[in-house]
Amino acid sequence: MRKISFLFLSIAMLTASLPAQGQSVTKKQDWAQFYVFEKDNARVDKSRIKAVLMGDSITETWWGKDSTFFKDNNFVGRGISGQTTSEMIVRFRKDVLDLHPQFVVIMAGTNDIAQNNGIISKDNILGNLKTMVEIAKFHNINPMLCSVPPAAGFVWRKDLAPAQDIIELNKMIKEYSVSVGIPYIDYHSALTDENGGMPKEYAKDGVHPTLEGFKIMEKILLDTFEKTDFAMDNVVLSSLKTRRSIRSYKKQQIKDEELLAVLQAGTFAPNGMGIQDSWIVAVQNEDIKKELIRMNAEILGTKSDPYYGAPTIILVFGSNPEKWRNSVQDGSLVLGNMMNAAHSLGLGTCWINREMEMFATKEGKELMRKMGIDEKLIKEGLIGIGALAIGYPEGEPRAPKPRKENYFRIIK
Ligand SMILES: Cc1cc2nc3c(=O)[nH]c(=O)nc-3n(C[C@H](O)[C@H](O)[C@H](O)COP(=O)(O)O)c2cc1C
Repeated sequence: MRKISFLFLSIAMLTASLPAQGQSVTKKQDWAQFYVFEKDNARVDKSRIKAVLMGDSITETWWGKDSTFFKDNNFVGRGISGQTTSEMIVRFRKDVLDLHPQFVVIMAGTNDIAQNNGIISKDNILGNLKTMVEIAKFHNINPMLCSVPPAAGFVWRKDLAPAQDIIELNKMIKEYSVSVGIPYIDYHSALTDENGGMPKEYAKDGVHPTLEGFKIMEKILLDTFEKTDFAMDNVVLSSLKTRRSIRSYKKQQIKDEELLAVLQAGTFAPNGMGIQDSWIVAVQNEDIKKELIRMNAEILGTKSDPYYGAPTIILVFGSNPEKWRNSVQDGSLVLGNMMNAAHSLGLGTCWINREMEMFATKEGKELMRKMGIDEKLIKEGLIGIGALAIGYPEGEPRAPKPRKENYFRIIK
């Protein structure tokens, strides 16, 4: 009882001490420094912003040295001196999302490595950058990640030798950017000297570029914009772009709710005339899986498992194409929907062929009966369209494959 009244008292005190909207907070109290851009954010013409440049004192100095570059390109600088990635996440809504830019260009990490807020691992710095990328995507803002510019030392932390840490962090940022298909803007390679620092002509204090240094960065940034596909991005689009066929699975079975979500995604696939002509069978039964593996392997002429040891195999069937001309198209979309749904849940899939041949045989039809498929459908010539191996991926997913050029064209 006493504990409860103490709790009430603490909540009451806490509520009383929080400022309401419009009430002033001192600069010192405003630890994430919302105050810095509060007025600018209210004033800026949000319909014209191409990109917000989010960052620390390097971005802040950049605006100071060459504000014309920002104005000419409809860029808005949101750099705050001394800030780490953790503070940037906190003010990301006010200084990026609420401005609705087309792009956000994030250059951060210098102050994390300088331990401005204490020690943070490179893995967690990357985690913070990933968080900003994911939030941006969720709000249909295209993210770009920059390398941390080179520095062989920090004037405010003379005890640190950051050059190697920066190189290692940049490698991680680059790998992540490639894996999620976003631009990685490499200022580091263009500005570094042989010691991993910046030569005097590019940065007098070794950290903040001179105008000459910024001019190099400006060219790299504008080149990136020129080369970047300006296609929109969000979590769904990004998921479509990062799905890869998985050919190695953990033994562990997927959860029932995951399977259900995938099957539902297949069920909701578009289909010719809306007649829903596909039949989906998810197989987790070991005996039936063994038969599928054997039959498929025989056709393929291999002794290994064509389903790559996946704990679940999903089969998709369609009507005899002589009865329904879109059965293959319909079934393929069902498989596509399920692959993309599975990827969005962190599951791996691979389309496995040869179902058409397998289920055209007497043995295949027997197996259909064993799986409870309607005799009438079998008699009418139900065909196997394809199968999915599905499970938890073993190992890291591969980076997206570079796509062929001229895959599409636009005729206006
Ligand atoms: C109709 C079709 C049949 C496929 N058959 C097989 C197969 O039998 N075995 C396999 O390992 N991958 C198979 N795949 C997967 C493709 O090899 C894979 O999608 C392609 O290489 C592109 O790679 P990605 O899916 O990682 O983008 C098939 C894909 C499709 C669409």
